[in-house]
Amino acid sequence: MRIQLSINGEKHEADVEPRLLLVHLIRDMLRLTGTHIGCDTTHCGACTVLLDGRPVKSCTLFAVQANGANIITIEGMANADGTLHVLQEAFREMHGLQCGFCTPGMITRAHRLLQENGNPSEEEIRLGISGNLCRCTGYQNIVKAVQYAAAKLAGVPFQEAAE
Ligand code: FES
Ligand code: FES
Repeated sequence: MRIQLSINGEKHEADVEPRLLLVHLIRDMLRLTGTHIGCDTTHCGACTVLLDGRPVKSCTLFAVQANGANIITIEGMANADGTLHVLQEAFREMHGLQCGFCTPGMITRAHRLLQENGNPSEEEIRLGISGNLCRCTGYQNIVKAVQYAAAKLAGVPFQEAAE
């Protein structure tokens, strides 16, 4: 089937088999390998991308279901001038990653979370990222990174909660 979609602002057309998963279109055909595959069973969230602004697990959609959509992957998150997106900066500053395998999915998920709730509580952040698994960090610094980004977006100083 012939499909058309926009990825990170660039138009693409592709002939795909109906069974092709979106993550394989992104990684194998378009070589955008920042989107990871951690499970193939909709559990880990490493494959999360934004589809028309909503986070989706791209291992769980067929490429044909994204026909006509606008997709943003981690490669499309940086600002137009090449500087890091505030969430990317936040994960770096707050040590929200170790191996980094989960990070593209965490950042794309957190992006929507902050659009829906600009001042999330720790509990709301933990619930919001509950579909994204991290085997390294213990999540604490990921939560801090999202709080850092929320503060920066709101233009207020980031204050770490007392432990
Ligand atoms: S690879 Fe998609 S949820 Fe794990
Ligand atoms: S930083 Fe390694 S899986 Fe999250």
